[in-house]
Amino acid sequence: MAHAHDDLLATDIEAYLHAHEHKSLLRFITCGSVDDGKSTLIGRLLYESKLVFEDHLAALAADSKKVGTQGDDLDFALLVDGLAAEREQGITIDVAYRFFSTEVRKFVVADTPGHEQYTRNMVTGASTADLAVILIDARKGVLTQTRRHSFLVSLLGIRRIVVAINKLDLVEYSQEVFDRIEADYRAFAAQIGLDDITCIPMSALRGDNILEPSPNTPWYTGPTLIHHLETVPLDDLTEGTPFRMPVQWVNRPDLDFRGFSGRIVGGTVQPGMAVRVLPSGQMSTVARVVTFDGDLPEAVAGQSVTITLTDEIDVSRGDVLAAANEPPAVADQFEAHVIWMGEHEMLPGRPYLMKIGTRTVGLSIAQPKYRVEVNTLEHLAAKTLHLNEIGVCNLHLDRPVAFDPYAENREMGGFIIIDRLTNTTVGAGLLHFALRRADNVHWQAIEVGKEAHSALKGQRPTVVWFTGLSGAGKSAIANVVERKLHASGRHTYLLDGDNVRHGLNMDLGFTDADRVENIRRVAEVSKLMADAGLIVLVSFISPFRSERQLARDLMGEQEFVEVFVDTPLAVAEQRDVKGLYRKARAGQLANFTGIDSPYEPPEHPEVRIDTTRLSAEEAADRIIELLRAWERIP
Ligand code: ADX
Repeated sequence: MAHAHDDLLATDIEAYLHAHEHKSLLRFITCGSVDDGKSTLIGRLLYESKLVFEDHLAALAADSKKVGTQGDDLDFALLVDGLAAEREQGITIDVAYRFFSTEVRKFVVADTPGHEQYTRNMVTGASTADLAVILIDARKGVLTQTRRHSFLVSLLGIRRIVVAINKLDLVEYSQEVFDRIEADYRAFAAQIGLDDITCIPMSALRGDNILEPSPNTPWYTGPTLIHHLETVPLDDLTEGTPFRMPVQWVNRPDLDFRGFSGRIVGGTVQPGMAVRVLPSGQMSTVARVVTFDGDLPEAVAGQSVTITLTDEIDVSRGDVLAAANEPPAVADQFEAHVIWMGEHEMLPGRPYLMKIGTRTVGLSIAQPKYRVEVNTLEHLAAKTLHLNEIGVCNLHLDRPVAFDPYAENREMGGFIIIDRLTNTTVGAGLLHFALRRADNVHWQAIEVGKEAHSALKGQRPTVVWFTGLSGAGKSAIANVVERKLHASGRHTYLLDGDNVRHGLNMDLGFTDADRVENIRRVAEVSKLMADAGLIVLVSFISPFRSERQLARDLMGEQEFVEVFVDTPLAVAEQRDVKGLYRKARAGQLANFTGIDSPYEPPEHPEVRIDTTRLSAEEAADRIIELLRAWERIP
């Protein structure tokens, strides 16, 4: 099979290059551990395909650059581009993409290491794959790891599976062993909806059934691995999916040209086609489909193009251009599968960012409905998700986005989750559907609003947020501030951690997740109180920057003042007004802030109070003086 091309090469280099350039491309992922022989298998594939390739390369010595740039590199670069965004987000992806080619097809194989970060790596590798090769060591059979990998692969929408039952030489090429493993695997796979399965007996080390049928397995009549990879049908992304293109950037080189650039992720587009811009819903018609090499009569999924429209309508980065008659849905609340990749657990209620397509929006995740135990496929109750765990959760966005369910379009329904403060990728997810309640709960118009409330009280509403360690002096200072404001005729309310935890938040303890929820609720309550026209004093440890930022974002810069009551741990512990530090040190109180639970000091508080130098009275005077200077109070 390797040498049929040689004639062509000898006689017509152009034709050879053309044939190579127009080969189809199969992307696949290999799953398994080093012990299963994964590296050997990949090495073997590269080696076998090189036999096909290398003599051509030798003959083509002078022309080899041309092969490199015109033949293979383009597709490869595109594939890697898709990951650039994640890489920018600081995720350490440990996925090696290898490229090889036979005379029939080109291949990109994602090699994902199987150690503890396997979920993260697999999700990355599998998100663009057409097929998965799952390795099983013939001596060991179907293992927990085989089930995990298969579950993830099916979750990520890969339908075609090759089960490489490897190291068959170590079980004397036993058909019985092969048959038993195949039956085991098919029984499991059926439970997760995988049915397009090809099991191949092989020895990657010895080359059995890799390229040529092996004389050692005369009982096997199926395809060899390379033959199967060469002939397996490729899913046509354009077939059955309506046109979708997330806008990467607005291309406006001069006043006469305004185009929208991006990669098509579904369907086809032609000049004259009616399109809709989401989420705004505006309609227009495609004028031109422009590429670097000129205009196209049609472009298909996978291509990067610039589209111009016949109307001057508002389109910006992050919008989606879609077929007008089959637009994606637009929503801001969803159910989704979430695959957690952060070292730190997921915190329900914490503000994260979601990157979906080319759009980034604010995201908060509700407590999981359940977590999937990937070994048994059981649904277990969970309060959070830890590294590598997978669960189903409801999501709330701060703005609506256009989407398709992941099952219908991987790129329109797949997203990553980014930590706002560290800017790292902490999760990935797959959208299932929009929540109906998003349609059914509307804002009710209220006639007496914030302006009216505060006008009647003759003041500007403000939230003064005190943060600091337990025993730092927050409540003492806030109390004096309130007393003084009240005395001068201001309408105030003091929300204090200890008090609110007796009522509204009596269901919450001191885990990270509970503290996040504690502060989220208090931020919402203080917003309501500010809407009522009050000056709200909030005194909570509020140990995390993210949630203090959430409170700030809810209120807006003009109505939020962060006061850092900066008492060193040693001083707070020395005072130990409530005796809690002593208990914590004695091991009678877990998760105590500053001892075995973190406190993240504010980086840029509006006010910093050093309680080792100021009394509560002096601190309160200083805060009131500043509020006056900033014209928050008269
Ligand atoms: S926060 O971290 O969620 O903001 P919050 O301000 O509501 O805490 O409550 C802190 C108060 O709860 C402390 O002042 C202390 O009296 C009490 N407390 C009891 N257990 C703990 C704990 N493990 N860590 C911190 N404070 C605790």
